[in-house]
Amino acid sequence: MKIAIPRERRENEKRVAASPDTVKKFVALGAEVIVEAGAGETSSFKDSDFEEAGATIAADEAAALKDADVVLKIQHPLTKEEGTDELALMKKGAVLVGHLSAMQNREQVAEYAKAGITALALELLPRISRAQSMDVLSSQSNLSGYKAVLDAAAEYGRAMPMMMTAAGTIAPAKCFVMGVGVAGLQAIATARRLGAIVTATDVRAATKEQVESLGAKFIMVESEETGETEGGYAKEMSDDYKKRQAELVFEHIKKQDMVITTALIPGRTAPILITDEMLAVMKKGSVVVDLAVEAGGNVTQSKPGEIVVTDNGVKIIGHRNVPSRLASDASSLFAKNLFNFLNPMIDKETGNLNLNWEDEVVLGAALTRDGSVIHPQLTEGGN
Ligand code: NAI
Repeated sequence: MKIAIPRERRENEKRVAASPDTVKKFVALGAEVIVEAGAGETSSFKDSDFEEAGATIAADEAAALKDADVVLKIQHPLTKEEGTDELALMKKGAVLVGHLSAMQNREQVAEYAKAGITALALELLPRISRAQSMDVLSSQSNLSGYKAVLDAAAEYGRAMPMMMTAAGTIAPAKCFVMGVGVAGLQAIATARRLGAIVTATDVRAATKEQVESLGAKFIMVESEETGETEGGYAKEMSDDYKKRQAELVFEHIKKQDMVITTALIPGRTAPILITDEMLAVMKKGSVVVDLAVEAGGNVTQSKPGEIVVTDNGVKIIGHRNVPSRLASDASSLFAKNLFNFLNPMIDKETGNLNLNWEDEVVLGAALTRDGSVIHPQLTEGGN
């Protein structure tokens, strides 16, 4: 079996879908790994690192993909309209695995089917315990949460920890984390390590204990309404809840130095948590990081790819693709997720991949099979 790792070509993308460690593991299972020259350059992996791990280096993308049975990618392939038809470089019957943003690129999924590619979108894996080690959303969100605090610290014109010096005392920064999923929890832990006084909020009451176990204070609207679906995810709240949440946040945010927003609702636009009125009462020099900026944003004035400064001197950071800002670690973890997903299905005798079509993990991720779109959320009647 030949596994190809092309260089990622999308804007702001520095990650790569393999690390020398995962190459070594695939090779040990009997697979042949072909890495496009320079694929690891922006994540600090040299071609020679991949070669030492047992990979072959292909001069260009076409050569890497030509005979590949499996293609590992971070992001969905580029289309002809975007400059290179990456799909056309793959052979019929190849298995494509990555964060394919399938729900946002439904037309491309139909193209996978047409090209006879079996596509597996890791962002759609069911979030069951067994799939945790394959979960790219978690591995990347964790790094985003960490980096968000560092980005805030870099733009903040003051120190974060309390410092008692001969020249006087510096007060600790107050950091507020909104949305306590994987990214939010890591943001809390990172802000605490840097000495901030941390508060956090979420619509899911179950997060209270997690916030407190990290030494932060939980702030939440008192309500009978549950913000959690049966599957444990957030849902859109009632207008009354949103109004009360806004009042609570309005009072709290006046005193904050840093705010990290991470709130997402699966399959929907991100909820607005910080309004113009709230920004207007924030302190001059305070910093907001909107990690949901690419999903519509949690902050009214955030802009993807920009640092906006409001009239009253609040900085709003809206970096795109935050995991890619820690490309080396993000690639290593993403690559390991890919390996953990494929490993149980690689025949240890032949080194071939036998997709297990009975497995809910495979079925959850599978977009196409045998020339057809098969994912229930994409076929007729799905939502
Ligand atoms: P996410 O990225 O979809 O959302 C981030 C957070 O925003 C969530 O905690 C959500 O409740 C919160 N949120 C949504 N609307 C909000 C609002 N209006 N105000 C305040 N907060 C709001 O969530 P993520 O990080 O993907 O995971 C959520 C949970 O899923 C985790 O904490 C965990 O319990 C579970 N999970 C399970 C996994 C598994 O078993 N394989 C893997 C990863 C997560």
